Amino acid sequence: MTFYRLFFDHVLTRTDAETAHRAGFAALRAAEPLLRRVDPTATGWVPGTWRRKATREGAGPVVRALGRDFPGPLGLAAGFDKNAVGIDALAALGFAFVEVGTVTGEPQPGNPRPRLFRLPADRAVVNRMGFNNDGAEVVARRLARRRARLGAGGSTPRRRGAARPVIVGVNIGKTKVVPEGHAVSDYEKSTRLLAPYADYLVVNVSSPNTPGLRDLQAVDKLRPLLEAVRRKADAVTEHRVPLLVKIAPDLSDTDVLAVADLANGLGLDGIVATNTTTSRDGLRSGEGAVAEVGAGGLSGAPLRERSLEVLRLLRGRVGADMVLVSVGGILTAADAQERLDAGATLVQAYTGFVYEGAFWPARIQRELTGHGRTVSR
Ligand code: FNR
Repeated sequence: MTFYRLFFDHVLTRTDAETAHRAGFAALRAAEPLLRRVDPTATGWVPGTWRRKATREGAGPVVRALGRDFPGPLGLAAGFDKNAVGIDALAALGFAFVEVGTVTGEPQPGNPRPRLFRLPADRAVVNRMGFNNDGAEVVARRLARRRARLGAGGSTPRRRGAARPVIVGVNIGKTKVVPEGHAVSDYEKSTRLLAPYADYLVVNVSSPNTPGLRDLQAVDKLRPLLEAVRRKADAVTEHRVPLLVKIAPDLSDTDVLAVADLANGLGLDGIVATNTTTSRDGLRSGEGAVAEVGAGGLSGAPLRERSLEVLRLLRGRVGADMVLVSVGGILTAADAQERLDAGATLVQAYTGFVYEGAFWPARIQRELTGHGRTVSR
């Protein structure tokens, strides 16, 4: 049992989950200068100094995808860094890519608190955050400042103490107060402002906490939305920003395949699968505890099976070339490896990081290295 596991079980489970998240994230950002000087993905330390052993062997296999070199296959899923305030601190922990957001066209406070809950018996989290975020204008300014700070070439080449290379995805969603009939223009606004700073862009139509959002997964609504976002992204950037769509695990198999066909037909660059589920089937937590938590999206271990199933369905349908980012219930390196073996190009996690702590991403990245994969897609 790790120190973090003990701390989690005895301290964090007694603290409001969102308060704990905010405190942990603030501490991580404050520690960023120190984190930059050490390298949690390196295999060892030179005793008595901050200098890491001159090795990058532990950093995980490079994945060539979406026209970029991902420094490893594991990324941080959307929802953790909604406002793009901690990208480099998270990269310093070993995440190869960070998907910021969901960002909406307009700033919004999200749902009333409490809105984030842990179900430790299931290694799961339930959230009904409701896209609390600073809005596309503020987040775009923040990303622009970061880019200016790092210089045009992003964060490479790397000097000691410089920011770790990291790929930045931007996940966009619909502002709650915008009526469904105007959803496309809301996504277009976010695209206009954010595409210039995104290594890739994700259209999120799968969070359960914005009324009506998941209806946009129906192909007749999704097609015009994705076409509009593609057009807008092309209008505001000189290079072609890769475009992906993020889907729910609660789609029927038929609907998953319909999205796969649409993605192929539109020449989409990839699919992120999956978001959280509204299902509460098969949980170990008592019915009372589950009922007390109430509505929201469930993430973590209970998602593992369906997320893997959706990945297999997608890979079977889209062929070998499309990028598939598998997310949902990845808590161990074996989970991650299973996804890569099942055809995932990249993997992401959120809940595993919450339960396992700050050293988790580097450990997973390192354990995946054992398999020495260099993926190109
Ligand atoms: C999320 N997730 C999420 N996804 C998204 O596209 N936009 C978002 O804003 C959020 N917000 C969010 C908040 C919280 C508290 C959690 C736990 C999750 C979903 C997340 O990106 C991921 O798809 C799921 O959590 C499944 O992965 P894990 O958590 O099982 O690894």
